[in-house]
Amino acid sequence: MLCISVEEFLIWKKKQLSKGGDQQSFTFLLDCMAGIPDSDLKNISISPRESLHLKKNLEFLESVWDDHLINSCPIQYLCGITFWRDLKLKITNKVLIPRPETELIVDVVFNIFRKKSEKLFFAELGTGSGAISIALALAYPLSEGLATDIDQDALEIATKNFINSSKQSNLKFYCGNWWSPIESFKGKLDLAISNPPYIPRDIYEKLPKEVKNFEPKVALLGGEDGLKHIREIIQKAPLFLKENGWLILENHFDQSEKVKQLLINNKFTSIEIVKDLSGIGRFTIGRYK
Ligand SMILES: C[S@@+](CC[C@H](N)C(=O)[O-])C[C@H]1O[C@@H](n2cnc3c(N)ncnc32)[C@H](O)[C@@H]1O
Repeated sequence: MLCISVEEFLIWKKKQLSKGGDQQSFTFLLDCMAGIPDSDLKNISISPRESLHLKKNLEFLESVWDDHLINSCPIQYLCGITFWRDLKLKITNKVLIPRPETELIVDVVFNIFRKKSEKLFFAELGTGSGAISIALALAYPLSEGLATDIDQDALEIATKNFINSSKQSNLKFYCGNWWSPIESFKGKLDLAISNPPYIPRDIYEKLPKEVKNFEPKVALLGGEDGLKHIREIIQKAPLFLKENGWLILENHFDQSEKVKQLLINNKFTSIEIVKDLSGIGRFTIGRYK
């Protein structure tokens, strides 16, 4: 721990923010790397004569902030962590930074399976950092979950995140293309859930550089029309779901009607488009007969 005066810190902070960037990212940096949570920041400005303890020195923090500003590297990758729902997750550039809008997918599950004592058997396809699967495995402690990803590095991160978040052992990790690593669980799932790569190629090419240059292409690009992976997941889902089992998918802002049609074509029922907090049809859900 390093000790500096609050006055010195406040002058330094003002200088960093004058270079650009947003307050939220700067607050994230101070919380994660310096060990100064936002609540402490609010208090110190009223006691400038006191001293402050930092986990890293100001030169180091400044170099990280400069890296963020100059190269547009997301602050979460530079800090190696992110917060999602009530989870603190380790991340590297091998996994997508789980998005706030995806947090609601867990509430969609809560609305369907209302008892936390349910013994669900669920699979998450394309788990990335493990965010969704870990949230479900913790919320339904009697459930059993399977989390898959095509990327072994992502699975290693997800496995570590699960170990760090819980003492439970109700989540297993499998590497491979969508359903293929869980072939032996055909007909057994109460729920399959996925936030697959769904960005159409033309939109992918124009993504902001903080996304395109840093986040894994395999986590974002959904083929020419964005629906390549969603199609594959829906077509094979009936083989894996129990009778009346649910499929819950996240999709791009304008894809929900098309995803709905794909579900209809594949004999799903109770199909519903669920809006996110911005009123966008973000999730499309259905049950298999
Ligand atoms: C949009 S990210 C979602 C990550 C995480 N579930 C989340 O919501 O933050 C999509 C994930 O699907 C994985 N993925 C891409 N293609 C895949 C495939 N063919 N089979 C299995 N997983 C795949 C990617 O590696 C990535 O982790």
